[in-house]
Amino acid sequence: MAERVYGEREIELLRQVLASRNLGALSGKFTPMFEEKFARLVGTRYAVAMNCAMSVLHASLMCAGVGAGSEVICDSLFIFGALAALYTNALPKFVDIHPVSHCLDPDKLEVAITERTKAVVVTHAWGLPAEMDRIVEIAHRYKLVVIEDCAHAILATYKGRYTGSWGDIGSFSFQASKQMSLGDGGMATTSNEQLANKLDLHSGAPTFHSVAHGLHYNYRLNELTSAVGIAQLEQLPDFIKGLQKVAGYYDQAIAGCSYLVPQQFPGSVSTYHLWAATFDGERYGLSLAGFKNFLEREKITEFVNLGYTGMPAYKHPVIKDKLAHAFHCQENQPGIDYCDGLCPVAERVIPRILLTSTVIPEEKAQENAERLYQALRKLEGK
Ligand SMILES: Cc1ncc(COP(=O)(O)O)c(C=O)c1O
Repeated sequence: MAERVYGEREIELLRQVLASRNLGALSGKFTPMFEEKFARLVGTRYAVAMNCAMSVLHASLMCAGVGAGSEVICDSLFIFGALAALYTNALPKFVDIHPVSHCLDPDKLEVAITERTKAVVVTHAWGLPAEMDRIVEIAHRYKLVVIEDCAHAILATYKGRYTGSWGDIGSFSFQASKQMSLGDGGMATTSNEQLANKLDLHSGAPTFHSVAHGLHYNYRLNELTSAVGIAQLEQLPDFIKGLQKVAGYYDQAIAGCSYLVPQQFPGSVSTYHLWAATFDGERYGLSLAGFKNFLEREKITEFVNLGYTGMPAYKHPVIKDKLAHAFHCQENQPGIDYCDGLCPVAERVIPRILLTSTVIPEEKAQENAERLYQALRKLEGK
């Protein structure tokens, strides 16, 4: 089952919230219950619910003491960690990705650390966990706070341990396209009591009565969303099995095509926010432009995206054109050079990434996988 279902359980819990006549997170019981169940599932001591994952990333960096004059290391595929760094007036420092896993490459991490570095945001790309043991070891040697961006990777495992329990803080998204779709919403996970208390302030303040003891944000998650979250959590393991089954059909469709490399990494088990592979055809005489035209002609692009954003995070206008205060504040001078060629693997690989949604009915996935398989046979002249 890889289709979204909201059923009787959701309605029952929503009815209970409405009957409680308390829809707000501050004194309700559903948001704390959602947090407790989420922490237990992921294997952390605490979980703090917020209104979206960008709020979690922002609050996490604030809790890590990041601000003007700081640098935050981010992988070069995704923009979200960099945006959160800019929210705090810190500068993002981009590290290259691994060509097959698409996650931050730990071999490139240490050289990016400076005396300004405070935190590392590492994204588990498309649902596949990054090499967390090495990343955490290097980062902690330099006393950096490790934030896992788990927006794509709920219940994914690396070496048998869940994403969101490896770093100091895990950040999950419940935005509509994610495995757990609550419309919007986010969750921070941590086993560090101090960080949990700090995160809590951003998910609970300011209130009508409270004295403002610091600059805290209102990133609360309401009771209605939490109630649906509790119901969805109960179905999550089965739903994920459905996504993994769908991904298996696409893996089979490209098996034996040496010019398409499925996204994988030893020790990592993906929960497939998206199924992903990398086009590596040039070495077999296939050009990227030719492959793209072929996919369009065969209408494979109806369900497969080739190239994601087409660019590494540092080529997005917000970075390239310095569209944030952080780039101009005194504390961040002389700044960071976001030049072309900064992360050569990301520059080469991103336009070659194939992506397809796993949240579709199983029969449709089988049909799409068969269309892909037949098209690739045609490409190979078989
Ligand atoms: C990797 C990643 N991180 C963070 C976010 C932000 O999530 P949200 O929409 O819940 O703020 C997204 C959303 O697409 C994402 O894909």
